[in-house]
Order: sequence, then structure tokens, then C-alpha cells
Amino acid sequence: MLNSGPALSVPPPHRKHKAVAAFAAGLVFLVALAGVRNISPPPDSTSAIQNIDPNMVPLVTGDEPIQELFARAGCPVCHQIPGIAGAKGQVGPPLWLGKTGAGRLADPQYKGQAQTVREYIVESVVSPGSYVVPGFPPDTMPAWYGRKLSGAALNKIASYLEHAVEEPSSGRP
Ligand code: HEC
Repeated sequence: MLNSGPALSVPPPHRKHKAVAAFAAGLVFLVALAGVRNISPPPDSTSAIQNIDPNMVPLVTGDEPIQELFARAGCPVCHQIPGIAGAKGQVGPPLWLGKTGAGRLADPQYKGQAQTVREYIVESVVSPGSYVVPGFPPDTMPAWYGRKLSGAALNKIASYLEHAVEEPSSGRP
């Protein structure tokens, strides 16, 4: 306590110096502590997020409930997915394909093979390079999902996303 009430409001000089020295020492300790903490990067640093290690993603069989299926595959890290808890990623476009899908197919820049929104979703997942959504980074969506998602899992993803539209509560413009 630096200020301990009226009786001690004017401490003798040596006490005051001790207090100041103790305070300074404490400050140095705190700064040192903060420095040490800064050396090791936080476990959730964005660089780690941008590069999902395929070895960390288990094979998704399609037997999982849809929430678990998306979570296992890691899609929520980069995408907003309506109705999926925690899917608030901002790296890729929000997955509102029920609203945006037709426009992708109609884009003159679209050179892929898909004829339907459903096919477009499957193509986007197994071969993300075939069309890059304008305004989003290329070569960012992992290219190895074809090896990690079973046919059943892909089907489930496509069935879910082809009807997905923006949630009224979503904050993104
Ligand atoms: C590391 C980040 C990342 C992860 C993980 C990721 N994506 Fe993507 N995704 C992107 C980016 C960036 C784009 C936009 C650029 C492009 O088209 O390649 C994209 C595009 C898409 C598109 C096209 C969207 C549109 O609006 O046309 C779909 C569909 C999609 N991703 C589905 C998925 C699914 C399903 C998963 C999980 C199995 C997934 N993504 C995982 C980054 C990611």
C-alpha cells in the first residue's frame, strides 16, 4: 500500500524511497515477464490458421452429424457457414451458396465444369483452383480435400451448402 490513510500520509523519507524502489523493481519484473511472454508466439497465430496441416485433418467419412463434419474438416476456420456453431472464418467467402451459387455459374470468368450449384460446390471443394471467387485470395483454400473427404461427406456438404443462405443475425455486409 503506497498511501495508507491520514496517519501515514507523510512517511519518513527513507520509507518513501524504499517504496519507490520496490515499485520500480516490480515494474522491471513485469516488463521482463511481458518480454518473455512475447518470445513464444500465441498458439492461435493466424499464420498457423492459414496453413492447415493435412495431417491434422482426419478422414471425414460422412457418418458424422453435419456440425461435426464441418468442424473436423476445418472449414469453419476460413468460412462463415450458416447454422454451424463457431463457423465465423473470414479468409474465404461466407458459404451462402443458396444465394450466391447461381451468380458464380453465370460469371463470364467461370471456366469450370459444373452445371448446377451442387456441382459447383463439389468442384470448389475438390478442385478449388478451377475458379477463384473475386476478392478472395487464390491458392489459399486447401487443395487436398479430395483426399480427406469421402464421397458421402462431399454429398452431405453439398446438400447442406446448396440451400445455405445468410443468417439474419450475421454481421457481414
Ligand atoms: C485455409 C482456408 C480455407 C479452408 C480451411 C477452407 N476454405 Fe473454402 N475457400 C477459401 C478461400 C480463400 C476461398 C475463395 C477463393 C477460391 O475460390 O478459391 C474459398 C472458396 C470456397 C468455396 C466457393 C465459395 C463461393 O462463394 O463461391 C466453397 C464452396 C468452399 N470454399 C467450401 C469449403 C469447404 C466445404 C471447406 C471445408 C471442407 C473449405 N472451403 C475449407 C478458403 C478456405
